[in-house]
Amino acid sequence: MSASSNTSREAPAGAGGSIVLVGIMGAGKSAIGRRLAQRLGLPFVDADDEIEAAAGCTISEIFERFGEAEFRQGEERVIARLLQGPPHVVATGGGAFMSERTREAIQRDGVSVWLRADLETLMRRVRRRQNRPLLQTADPEETMRELMERRYPIYGEADHIIDSSDGPHARVVEAIVEALGEARANDRG
Ligand code: S3P
Repeated sequence: MSASSNTSREAPAGAGGSIVLVGIMGAGKSAIGRRLAQRLGLPFVDADDEIEAAAGCTISEIFERFGEAEFRQGEERVIARLLQGPPHVVATGGGAFMSERTREAIQRDGVSVWLRADLETLMRRVRRRQNRPLLQTADPEETMRELMERRYPIYGEADHIIDSSDGPHARVVEAIVEALGEARANDRG
């Protein structure tokens, strides 16, 4: 397990705000987020669930009926709203951090944690469910590879980078807690 923190810029302004998990589909954002929230005594919220509740239908249906652009607008709105609320652990959908507006909002009001995983781990996890419109392609593995290539440099702008490929979720949670604790100690220091 390895962890690193972006030290190239100042400590996140929203160090007392929400902890926002970012990363590609299958990175474990929801499962790890739920555990992390429990560990920290914070409420957990899944941005995708909030989008579905607001739209009154599933993400697949939103893509089908209204298209991806409309979904992305809803996603920006929902995350902006969540960031304005009391501190939570927030699991975001894999594309959320690609929005510059969302990245800026998270940077301002929260702390971002990229859960980084390798292709094999991701494919093993996403194969379990058929609920991801972006992976309904002839070659989902190739699609995932392309998305990783495009997105990993951007996810790399997160405040903390935690590997979530290996080991049980409990260890990933502890790595996050440690990274957040160190960042707060540095803030105070
Ligand atoms: C998406 C990831 C999904 C969901 C939507 C689009 C993406 O969330 O928001 O299908 O662009 O990577 P998960 O990362 O939770 O699967």
